[in-house]
Amino acid sequence: MEIAAVDRWSAGGPILYSSRVNSDDRSREPATTGDVAASLTVRPATRDDAEAIARIYNQGIEDRTATLETGLRSADERAEWLNSHGERHPVIVAVDSTGFVLGWGSLNRFNARAAYDHVADVSVFVERSARRSGVGTALVEGLEARARAIGYHKMVLAAFATNLPAVTLYVRQGFSVVGTYHEQGLLDGRWMDVVVMEKILR
Ligand SMILES: CC(C)(COP(=O)(O)OP(=O)(O)OC[C@H]1O[C@@H](n2cnc3c(N)ncnc32)[C@H](O)[C@@H]1OP(=O)(O)O)[C@@H](O)C(=O)NCCC(=O)NCCS
Repeated sequence: MEIAAVDRWSAGGPILYSSRVNSDDRSREPATTGDVAASLTVRPATRDDAEAIARIYNQGIEDRTATLETGLRSADERAEWLNSHGERHPVIVAVDSTGFVLGWGSLNRFNARAAYDHVADVSVFVERSARRSGVGTALVEGLEARARAIGYHKMVLAAFATNLPAVTLYVRQGFSVVGTYHEQGLLDGRWMDVVVMEKILR
């Protein structure tokens, strides 16, 4: 099903994202009485989104496919995290037509040294049952629009070499692979290779 996601943040008017939604996904929460989201909206996250952000982040942590993080988060901890993200480090959420949060993304400080102020580190996590329906794409595009508006020179990220969904998504969004850190993290007793990716914003 083709839908359009509207980014209400863009000062230059709405940005439309072409994407698809799994119209027959019954496992999606909350129960939507069979209704399917007709549209995705990408908007700035608020404190009220902390619980949804924690839920989605915890799914990614539990999956063990996305992050070296292993400690589950609470809504209160995510609320503090949101609070610590100033204007240069926006957090955004993608919501369906009912307001249900399907994913979140953030621009994070890459390095505290001033010389790195032009580099934004990217995080994107999508609700398990909503993956492969265009939410990640809308979030990466939303983050890139914000990164450009803020004036960042580049966006970077690190992904597991085994995280094909993430690496493919970012390649499709114009990121290139810088290289691989081999055996960079020990996760559940297994050494994980980490791919570093970048996109210079010209
Ligand atoms: C990685 C992630 C953010 C992708 O988000 P998404 O909403 O599923 O991505 P999209 O639906 O926008 O997919 C965009 C493209 O990425 C690629 N892709 C996404 N999921 C894929 C999968 N499971 N297998 C192969 N390619 C995939 C495809 O090219 C897809 O386009 P297509 O559906 O037209 O073929 C999501 O899977 C996720 O949240 N995973 C857990 C957290 C995570 O890994 N975050 C990234 C850490 S670096």
